[in-house]
Amino acid sequence: MAALEVSELTVEVASRIVVRDVSFKVQSGELHVLLGPNGSGKTTIINAIMGVPGYRVVKGSIKLDGVDITGRPVDERARLGIGVMFQRPPSIKGVKLGELATRIAQIHGSKLPSVDLNISSLLSRDLNVGFSGGEAKRSELYLLLSQRPKIALLDEPDSGVDVENLALIGKAISSLLEAGAGVLIVTHLGYIMRHIPTKTKAYVLIDGRIACRGDPETVLNDILEMGFDWCRECETPLANS
Ligand SMILES: Nc1ncnc2c1ncn2[C@@H]1O[C@H](COP(=O)(O)OP(=O)(O)OP(=O)(O)O)[C@@H](O)[C@H]1O
Ligand SMILES: [Mg+2]
Repeated sequence: MAALEVSELTVEVASRIVVRDVSFKVQSGELHVLLGPNGSGKTTIINAIMGVPGYRVVKGSIKLDGVDITGRPVDERARLGIGVMFQRPPSIKGVKLGELATRIAQIHGSKLPSVDLNISSLLSRDLNVGFSGGEAKRSELYLLLSQRPKIALLDEPDSGVDVENLALIGKAISSLLEAGAGVLIVTHLGYIMRHIPTKTKAYVLIDGRIACRGDPETVLNDILEMGFDWCRECETPLANS
């Protein structure tokens, strides 16, 4: 049973506080959804949880299975079981996708993913070099699955993905949940949620703070219908629990 507990997380980036007092808890088999306008701090939260240098936690804590990992280096957090599907993963010449996935699986004592992500033609290519937007998303998810994470943080896994590949990505994320991972997804339009049966909780981040939280389908429908302004002006946030 894995648990990621983020408490009052406040993050400074480039001498500016970008995320303030963010708290939530993700447990095994749960899917949590982080929504919010561009620049509201969603990726910053993920980077801070992963320990990416430059994202300084100035207040609050990050605990994995009850252990405070707030000051731990990024590689240690990965070994402990936190994995990220980055919004914009880097291109790396000379590193083949297939070889990197094999190495990641070896380090984590896991097997290469058996779930279909339509990436067989990409395995012998340099990581992300010339990959289409959708190919980069699928290969990034493939690398994450190779790690077999306890807690998976997925930054916009559905952006720019066509309908068929969206279904493959949804199945792969469902397989993560079935294997007992706790999952946090950042999405703008929420299409990916149609392909994942589990939906635990949604959070709306406005200017670095959680403005409201509630049932994912209700929150998403309200946002798609009314935008984020209703949330900014909301006097009775959806059950702030
Ligand atoms: N490394 C950095 N250096 C300087 N500013 C940064 C850095 N990382 C994030 N920021 C700033 O912090 C703010 C939040 O950025 P973040 O990437 O977390 O937003 P986001 O909610 O993920 O947006 P989007 O939906 O566009 O991906 C933005 O104003 C961004 O420019
Ligand atoms: Mg982002």
